[in-house]
Order: sequence, then C-alpha cells, then structure tokens
Amino acid sequence: MALQTELLTNSFDLLRENEAEFTQVFYGTLFTDYPQVKPLFSNTHMDEQAKKLFASLLLVVNNLTKPDALSSALKGLGTRHVKYGVLPEHYPLVGSTLLKSMAATLKDQWTPDIEAAWTDAYGAITEIMLEGTDYPEEVLISESMSAT
Ligand code: HEM
Repeated sequence: MALQTELLTNSFDLLRENEAEFTQVFYGTLFTDYPQVKPLFSNTHMDEQAKKLFASLLLVVNNLTKPDALSSALKGLGTRHVKYGVLPEHYPLVGSTLLKSMAATLKDQWTPDIEAAWTDAYGAITEIMLEGTDYPEEVLISESMSAT
C-alpha cells in the first residue's frame, strides 16, 4: 500500500485536536445524507461508537508503515461489519461522509493533497476490510450492477 504517510499522519494529528467535533459532524452528516444506514445503528451507544471509530482510524494511521499488522486488524474489522448488517454498498457512503467531515473540521487546513491522500487511504481500507468478508455472490453481483 503506497499511501501518503506524512500527509495522513499530519492531518490526523490536526483532527485529534478536534476529535469530539469531528465525530459529531461525522455521524450527523452520515445520518442526514444517508438516512438508510441509520437503522444499522439502532442498538448502538453512539458516544462509545464515535470513540471506537476514531480509535480505529488512529490505529490505521499508526500502522501505515506496518502493512501486515494493518491488514490483519482491518480484515477482522471487515468480518465483524458483516454481522452489523453492513453491505459493500455502504462503504462509499461512509467514505464520502468521512472526507466531508474531515474537511468541515479542518476548514482552511484541509487541502487537495490531504483530500487525495485520504481518498486513497479509504479506498485501501475498504479493499482490505472487504477481503475479510465472504458476502454471497448475489450481493456482489447486485453491487457491481448498481455501481454502473
Ligand atoms: C473505514 C471504514 C470503517 C471503520 C474504520 C469502522 C470502524 C468501526 C469500529 C471500530 C466499530 C466498533 C466495533 C468493532 O470494532 O467491531 C464499528 C462498528 C460499526 N460500524 Fe463501522 N467502520 C467502518 C465502516 C463502516 C460502514 C461502511 C458502515 C455502514 C454504515 C459501518 C457501520 C457500523 C455499525 C452498524 C457498527 C456496529 C455498532 C454497534 O456495535 O452497534 N461501519 N465500526
């Protein structure tokens, strides 16, 4: 994975200064833009969830130079997400929300380079998480059809 380690680390350091704002904007935006995913979180304690999401992003950033550790952690995370009712088609929704919330939190510190670095990183994270899943063929076929 040839990711932009420095840009990702530095921008994440800035986000850490505003963790609460970022996670609040993230879930607020996710449920406003994509209300269809809200039922997946119906039994979720959202304050704890926000902390877990942030901690997992920190784990990614801290392990950018350790692809093996990163890969096994993300595959396991992907496997668990199947049990939460998450489908492959949900990943781009979370990805666009993540970028939008990062931009809103970092304001004028958000740059096109940082955006490109996170776009690549999220694509790689999604790919590895989905490697940890075993969706039935029908789900993947309807996915590829709806993507066209
Ligand atoms: C970069 C991608 C993602 C990351 C880093 C991430 C991170 C996490 C983490 C750390 C948890 C806590 C539970 C655990 O560790 O297994 C979690 C739970 C969950 N995530 Fe994600 N997630 C991602 C993508 C998604 C997507 C695409 C959806 C779909 C809308 C989603 C929906 C959920 C749900 C429903 C839970 C369970 C909440 C509960 O325990 O009730 N996540 N996620």
